[in-house]
Order: sequence, then C-alpha cells, then structure tokens
Amino acid sequence: MTSKRKILVTSALPYANGPIHLGHLVEYVQTDIWVRFQKMQGHDCTYVCADDAHGTPIMLRAEAEGIAPEALIERMHKEHLADFHAFGVKFDNYHSTHSPENEALVRDIYLKLRKGGHITQRTIKQAYDPVKSLFLPDRFIKGECPRCGAKDQYGDSCEACGATYSPTDLKNPVSVLSGAKPVEKESEHYFFKLGDFADDLRTWLFPDITQPRHVQSEAANKLDEWFAAGLQDWDISRDAPYFGFKIPDAKDKYFYVWLDAPVGYMASFKNYCERKGINFDDYWRKDSDIELYHFIGKDILYFHALFWPAMLEGAGYRKPTAIYAHGFLTVNGQKMSKSRGTFITARTYLDHLNPEYLRYYYATKLNSTMEDIDLNLDDFVARVNSDLIGKYINIASRAAGFLTNHFEGVLSEAHYKGEFINRACTLAAMDAANEITAAYAQREYGKVLRAVMKAADHINQYFDKHKPWELARNPAHSQKLHDVCSDCIHAFYVLTIYLSPILPSLSEGVAGLFNISRKLAWNDLSFSPLKMNNYEHLMTRIEPKRIEAMLEASKETATMKTATPTPSAGESSDAITIDDFARIDLRIARIVKAEDVEGAEKLLKLTLDIGEEKPRTVFAGIKSAYQPADLEGRLTVMVANLAPRKMKFGLSEGMVLAAGPGGKDLWILEPHAGAQPGMRVK
Ligand code: MSP
Ligand code: ZN
Repeated sequence: MTSKRKILVTSALPYANGPIHLGHLVEYVQTDIWVRFQKMQGHDCTYVCADDAHGTPIMLRAEAEGIAPEALIERMHKEHLADFHAFGVKFDNYHSTHSPENEALVRDIYLKLRKGGHITQRTIKQAYDPVKSLFLPDRFIKGECPRCGAKDQYGDSCEACGATYSPTDLKNPVSVLSGAKPVEKESEHYFFKLGDFADDLRTWLFPDITQPRHVQSEAANKLDEWFAAGLQDWDISRDAPYFGFKIPDAKDKYFYVWLDAPVGYMASFKNYCERKGINFDDYWRKDSDIELYHFIGKDILYFHALFWPAMLEGAGYRKPTAIYAHGFLTVNGQKMSKSRGTFITARTYLDHLNPEYLRYYYATKLNSTMEDIDLNLDDFVARVNSDLIGKYINIASRAAGFLTNHFEGVLSEAHYKGEFINRACTLAAMDAANEITAAYAQREYGKVLRAVMKAADHINQYFDKHKPWELARNPAHSQKLHDVCSDCIHAFYVLTIYLSPILPSLSEGVAGLFNISRKLAWNDLSFSPLKMNNYEHLMTRIEPKRIEAMLEASKETATMKTATPTPSAGESSDAITIDDFARIDLRIARIVKAEDVEGAEKLLKLTLDIGEEKPRTVFAGIKSAYQPADLEGRLTVMVANLAPRKMKFGLSEGMVLAAGPGGKDLWILEPHAGAQPGMRVK
C-alpha cells in the first residue's frame, strides 16, 4: 500500500432555499463514495461541506414565510443534514457560509485582493424594481426574447431558442416579484479584476504534459472557450437589501453570494480544525502539498476553475489539486419535472425506497467525465434487482444456510489457514482487487461495479457447478460441501469490502454477520472471516409499485400549496388593496367527512359543508399531520372561489387554510366558537 496521504475534499455547497433533491445527490453520493474509499485505504481524508446561506432568493423566501433569514437557514441546515445522513453521505463537518469563520475569511481575502490592486469600483446601470425597491437579479426579470420573441423568458437566456442576453435586452420586461416594469437605476459596484490572473490561470489550467492536470480535459476545452472570449471583471457587490456579508469600508454594499460561497469550504474546514486541533494553515498555505479536491456540477465550473483559483492566488493561498466536475441528472431521459413527478426530493425518495438502491444505481452510472447521467426508473429497478440482489446478495442467501445449518457457521479450515488461495472461486474475487482500486481512485464507479458483478457471476457459477444442495444429502460429501460454501462466503466477504464505499450500511450489516463491529477496511482483504452468524435478509428487491407511489407523492408535493409555504419568485408578498383581498372568497367550512385517499401518501379527502346545496370535495396535503377521525365535525376556513383542479383522485373544489412548515408541523385554521358553515371570512 502507498504511504498515508493527507486529503481534503469538498462538495459544492447546496443553497439553503430549497430541499435536497435527487439531482444534488449525484454529487454528494459521488463524493462520499470517493471519500469512503480513501478512508478505507487508510488515508487521512477529510470531507467538508456547508449550506450556501446567502443571496436574494433566500432573503425573499424568508420574507414570504414571514420569518427571519437566519431562522430559514437554520431550519434548512437541519433538513439538509438529516437528508444527507439518511443517504449515508458522511461529512466530517457540515457548516454554513453564514458563520463567523466565513465572515472573517471573506474579509481577509477581500482585503488582500484590494491591497493587491485587484478590486475596482464603477457605477453601473441595473434593472430595479420600483415597487419592491430592489435591484433585480437576471432571474427575477421576465419578458419576451429579443431574438425569437418567445414570451415569459428569464432575463439571462431564452429557453425557446437558447439565446443569451442581458435583462435590458428583453422586450416588455416585468419584475417577477411585483409585475412592475423594471426601471434602470445607477449604482456603484465593486469588481474583482479576473483579468489580472489570466496568465497564472492559463498555466494552471493548461499545463504542459509534464505537469499534473487540475481539471478534466472536457473542462479544459470549455475553459479555453471562455478564455478566448476574454476574462471580464467580476461584479462582486450587491446593494441593500441583501442577505449576506457587508463589504468593509463600503456603505450598504454586500458581497455577492458567489464571492463568499467557495470561501465557505475553507470556513467549514476552519471550524473543523478548531474543534479537532488541526493546523488550518498546513492545508491552505501557498506551498502546501496536502491534496485538495473540489467535486462540483458542470454548471458551476466557471466559478470554481476561474474565480476561485484567482481569488486564492490573489490572497496568497494554495490552489486546488483538482476540480472534478460531473454531469447533470436526468430522470427517464428528461430534465426533472414537477408535473411528471420526476422532481423528486431526497425526503420523498426516503419515504418509499432504501437509499442504498440509489447509491448503487448512481454508482453504476458514474464515471470521471462530465456527461449527464440518467436515472431511468425501469432500468433502476432492473439493475438493483438483477445485479445487486440477484447476483451479489444471492451468494450469501444461497450459501449461508448450508454453513450455519451444517457447520455452525464456521468456515472450513482451509480458509483460515490461507489455503483458500488455491480455490478458483475466492480467487476470482481477490483477483479483481487491483482493477477495482484503480477504478475507485479514478472515480470510475461504473467500472468498479462491472468488475464486482463479473466476479459475482463466477461465484454463482461455481456454486451451481458444485450443487451444494446435492452434496448436503450425502454425509460422505460433508467436507466438500463445507469447502464450497466457505469459499462462496469468503468471496462474498471480499465483494462486500469492494462495495463498502458505495453501500456503507449494507457493508456494516455484513460485517456484523462476521462479528466485525467496526467499518471494513481495504486491508481486511488479507484475512478470511472465520465464522458467520445466522444469515438474515440483508436487502430485498425493489417492488415497482414503490416507484409509482414515489412519483405520485412527488406530484403531490409539487402542487401541495397548503402544506408547504414555498412561494416561487412569482408570488410576492407585496401590499394589496382591500379590493384585491375581497376577490378571495373565504368561507367557514364544516368538515363533514375526512378520508384517506388510496394511493396518495400525503392527501386527505375532505367533504366540506359551506352552506351550499352540495358539499365540496377538497384534497388537502395534511395527512402527515392529521388523522381523519380527528377532523370530522370540526370547523375550518376554505378558499371557496379557487378554480377547481382535476387531480388523479378526483376534482378538488377549493383549498383549506393551514400554517406550518409541513410534515407533522402543520395546523389547519379553526374559527372561534359561534362561526357557522358558509359564513364569509372578511
Ligand atoms: N450554492 C451553489 C454552489 C456553491 S459552491 C461554493 C449551488 N448550489 S445548488 O444547490 O444549486 O447545487 C449544489 C450542487 O448540486 C452543484 O454542484 C450542482 O451542480 C449540483 N446539482 C444540482 N442539481 C443537479 C442535477 N440535476 N444533477 C446533478 N447535479 C446537480 O450551485
Ligand atoms: Zn428566444
């Protein structure tokens, strides 16, 4: 084994304004597998991440929920951590960019850049929402594409024809916050002079062939195009109101979220160092030879391969050893879509399926390129069932019973004497070690799994050839039975070591079968297990109906307005007139009946009496918080003039009002005693 390396690894910091979804998980699973692999090799590998907590969308979302941004990001931090934990993504530290460590580091870096002459100021014109009194980010302006005329396009690019432009080019632009026509307003901005680092970046990104590469070749090609277009000054300031860090010596100016976000990598690590007594500077000083890797999605390459190394260079810190970019997730060949139910959050997935199925499937698809990866749900079921369960798990479920029933679980002597090495079966498994080690190191997890499954095929064939079920009938063949099954179980143990980075929880279960109460490590390959406990099912097949239920639940989550207050940028909390309010027909409703809805995970079907001839039917996303029986007979408030909506389960003729973040924390409104069904709420 090579000597012990010191490695610091990061994944991109997820925004604190939304839940973790299956697209994010491509990255966190990819990184986690790599980190676990390095740790199993015995290296000193640290994995840090954080929530990316600043910026306009977070500020606006908190405002729409009527809470402080600090409260929103704290809740998100908990939710994100819980999701990561459930998916086995194990950070050594998970911090926040809204932290004292980050503020101090950002300040330090900024002041060094300024001292080096890399910051400049000038007045620019920007779109401004006169109603909201807010400068508008590109994504908050919509209008007609200047090239093809398509309606309802964002301020930065057209989804219809692919044109990119600036928001001032849009025809008939409107602010998505207020619907007002944006005006141009002048403001002084701070810029980072990226061009100052052009030469340095060029040498770093395109080294001669004797030097190590810091980005994948596809990434280098992309960056080459950007270089050709010229490195522009980068606007790093935003005007108040903004949720972020104030720029030193500037009035009412904040750092743009993307300036402080990557510094969050350092901040999270710094926070970890302080708790663990590790020397932060050893990792970040200019001449550090400790390895530093950033795993990111291809959409944020520009920030990580240009701005970030330039900032580090300008502030006197080391640059990353490498940036590893991955492609984007599609589901069934298409972009994730709320209406198709394929915008699947980590939580919704967890409500229906074992997280290690997904880790396994992603691993079959992951490699070192930036190609997109597709979660094809039929293929997902097929691969998990036929390979993971049908080949690998199958070995244990076939061989273990003979071993425990006939030999008290003790492996045949040949094994712990090391003579197993002569056996074709165990050997097939052991032989794959070098190939698998290399493939993991190169992030070629698809290759890892092909090698594992090839070995699993061998082992299953060996089992079939020796027909243990026949050997078991004749006591004269006892030794042979013992050897064959021990061989298979030993090989299963070997494959488990290989699979551990991908399936950590399963691996722990298998280790337990062999009375090993710690994590398996790579050098456990040199030992044979001695005894096996009674085999219990480690993992079962995916039932396709679980997939259906997950898609259905995802559709519900996406349309469940009562339960999840997730206003899009389009729903503003601007002042309205009394006439605007009067347009909403709110009525006292008696819940005549409340029922579960077959096939719907989150909905209850409510029958509501609002004094009309026929009661209304409303499907409400409140099942997580209420038992039907607790609702019947009670009064609540409903929106009576909401356009009816056709749902899979029937027509929904309104909406009941509820408050709370969702899940168990959801409360429907109830009037004081005396109110009667049908009364108008005004
Ligand atoms: N906050 C920034 C990153 C700052 S890093 C200093 C951000 N956040 S994000 O929540 O939008 O994305 C976090 C990571 O998840 C990014 O690397 C992004 O590429 C990745 N993914 C988000 N959606 C994805 C898919 N649909 N597919 C694959 N990866 C995706 O960007
Ligand atoms: Zn267009």
